[in-house]
Amino acid sequence: MKVAFLGTGLMGLPMAQRLLDANIELIAYNRTLEKLAPLRDVGVEITKHPHEAISACECVILMLTNAAAIRNILLSEPSRSHLAGRTVIQMGTITPTESKAIRDEVIAAGGDYLEAPVLGSIPEAQAGKLIVMVGGTPEQFQKWSKLLQHFGSEPLLIGSVGSAAAVKLALNQLIASLSTAFALSLSFVQLQGIEVELFMQILRNSALYAPTFDKKLQRMRDRDYSNPNFPTKHLLKDTDLFITEAKSTNLNISSIEGVRNILEVAVNRGLAEADYSALFSAINPEALNNDQMDSVL
Ligand SMILES: NC(=O)c1ccc[n+]([C@@H]2O[C@H](COP(=O)([O-])OP(=O)(O)OC[C@H]3O[C@@H](n4cnc5c(N)ncnc54)[C@H](OP(=O)(O)O)[C@@H]3O)[C@@H](O)[C@H]2O)c1
Repeated sequence: MKVAFLGTGLMGLPMAQRLLDANIELIAYNRTLEKLAPLRDVGVEITKHPHEAISACECVILMLTNAAAIRNILLSEPSRSHLAGRTVIQMGTITPTESKAIRDEVIAAGGDYLEAPVLGSIPEAQAGKLIVMVGGTPEQFQKWSKLLQHFGSEPLLIGSVGSAAAVKLALNQLIASLSTAFALSLSFVQLQGIEVELFMQILRNSALYAPTFDKKLQRMRDRDYSNPNFPTKHLLKDTDLFITEAKSTNLNISSIEGVRNILEVAVNRGLAEADYSALFSAINPEALNNDQMDSVL
C-alpha cells in the first residue's frame, strides 16, 4: 500500500518517518518544500501539488495545523476532484464540529473519512508511542488500525467521527489548565522565598501531582523555552478550539478563558513559537532592565 502524507511539520515529519521505517511506500507533500528535505534525502517521493499525492494513493494521512489548512489542501480544487475512492485519515487537532463537516465534504466528493488525533509530542512520535484516538466506524477501525499502530501500539476506537476530536480537546484543556496552575504555584513559592525542591518534594508525594509538572519544571525555572515540541501558538489554538466547542454547551468555561488570556499574553510577548511552558513568563514576568523600561515608558 502507498500512503499520501500531507503535512510534514513538527509532528508530521517523525510520523512519516515511522511509516518509512516500516517500509511503507510514501508520497509526501508540504506547503513549505524545505521541510521535506529529510524525506527527499532518503528517497521518498515528493510532490509540490497535494492532488498528485491524493490521486496516487488509496490512503491520505493529514497532519496539518487546523481546519483552514485542511480545507486549503484537501477540499479545494483540484484536490477535491481526486478524493473519490480515497480514505482520508485526519490526525491534527480540530473541533468535533469541524471534523464532521470535513467528513461530510469528503464523503460528498466520493471519499471516506476517519479522524485519528494523537496525544503525545515529538519524542513519542519518533518512538511510535503516541496515543492514537480514532473516531470512525468499527469497520474503518479494523481496516486502518494496523497502519495507525506505527504511530502508537494501541490505537483506541472512541466512537464515531467527532468523538476522538472531543477527547483530544478535553485532554488539551487539561494540558493548558494544569500547566498554568503549576506555573502559578511555582512562581508563588519562588516569590515567597521557598526552596523549589522542597515544594516539589511535597507535591510529588501528594495526590495533586501530575508528571507534566516535572516535565516542565526545569524549563520554567530556567525560562528556557527553546526547541519546542509543542509551541505556545498551538496550545492557544487548541484552547480556542475547546472554548468554541464548549460554548455550545451550558458549561461554565471561565477557568479555561482565564488560561486563554495567559496564553495570549505569552504570544503577545513574542513567545508564540516557543515551548508552551513559556506561559510561565506570562504569569511571572521578569523584571525589566533599564533599556526595556525606557522602551516601555
Ligand atoms: N506538536 C505537538 O506536540 C502536537 C501534538 C499532538 C497534536 N498536534 C497537532 O497536530 C497538528 C500539527 O502539529 P505540528 O506541531 O506538526 O504543527 P506544525 O509544525 O506547525 O505543522 C503544521 C503543518 O500544517 C501546514 N499548514 C499550516 N497552515 C497551512 C495552510 N494554510 N495551508 C497549507 N498547509 C498549512 C504546515 O505547512 P508549512 O510547513 O508550510 O507551514 C505544516 O505542514 C496540529 O493540529 C497540532 O495541534 C501537535
